[in-house]
Amino acid sequence: MRPIDSARRQAAIDEIRSTGSFRSVQWLEAIDSTNRYLADGIRQMQLDSPALVVADLQTAGVGRGSNQWWSPSGCLMFSMAIPLASPLGHEHTMLPLQVGLAIAQSLEPIASVRPMVKWPNDVYLGGKKVCGVLIECVALPRDASTSTPQPQWVAIIGVGINCQVPLESAPESIRSRGTSLHQWIRGDRTEQTTTESVLVNFVHEWHDLHNKQIDAPKWIAQVWPDRSLLHDNWVQIKHPGGIASGRCIGIDERGALLVQNEQLQTSSILAGEVLSFQARDPDGLD
Ligand code: BTN
Repeated sequence: MRPIDSARRQAAIDEIRSTGSFRSVQWLEAIDSTNRYLADGIRQMQLDSPALVVADLQTAGVGRGSNQWWSPSGCLMFSMAIPLASPLGHEHTMLPLQVGLAIAQSLEPIASVRPMVKWPNDVYLGGKKVCGVLIECVALPRDASTSTPQPQWVAIIGVGINCQVPLESAPESIRSRGTSLHQWIRGDRTEQTTTESVLVNFVHEWHDLHNKQIDAPKWIAQVWPDRSLLHDNWVQIKHPGGIASGRCIGIDERGALLVQNEQLQTSSILAGEVLSFQARDPDGLD
């Protein structure tokens, strides 16, 4: 494990605070899961959103579905609590795509290959997964004593980015399908790439998205085609209605994946798990 450079750490925290994006910023040495920690803090009203929690190590990192998240030192692991006007669902279907795209954009100046997003929000480098996102929703207890309108719901957005992880000691599934940013650093980069610098990049990207009056659905529709790992690929997706197979032809205005089968019928899939896909080479000629 590399020793923590506390001056660099503090400088990153100061820079993140200076954006004004979060009411609280905490960087912990170790925790079971930053999602769990933040969700509990919000539920118990010990933390207010928007909040950010980062950890150097997780002892019980949570992945999507029933998966665990391999959480060694060198993986950037953080969770953001973001107030929502309504529970996650029909009104927030673009949120996962927005997070994935913001991560991809924040890795762009560092990586030697184009960061791509696998719908809805996994980020890939060189055809392998470098980042996973887990979004959960917490209901706030109502506060009867105040007349100020409070957000009733909070999204807990958990992000794990393999920045400098020892892949040789990773579980086999990660060794074969995952990658780490340190393997893809641009040759012309002079400054060191650390979990701190990657987080600072992401926070600036996230801050800009929310403070530059960017129309999120319009922006997503614009940038998605060139970031979509699945675009034009043959995919197989498990969704609440069954399994869909076909060519991925894009997303609709809600962020649902559009899959066209051999009979040229199109299904729009709002939530699901991509079971298989044929990776597109972002630097290739296709
Ligand atoms: C996935 O399965 O791809 C989602 C992985 C999400 C992992 C991150 S690491 C920080 C946050 N805390 C957790 O326990 N999980 C998320």
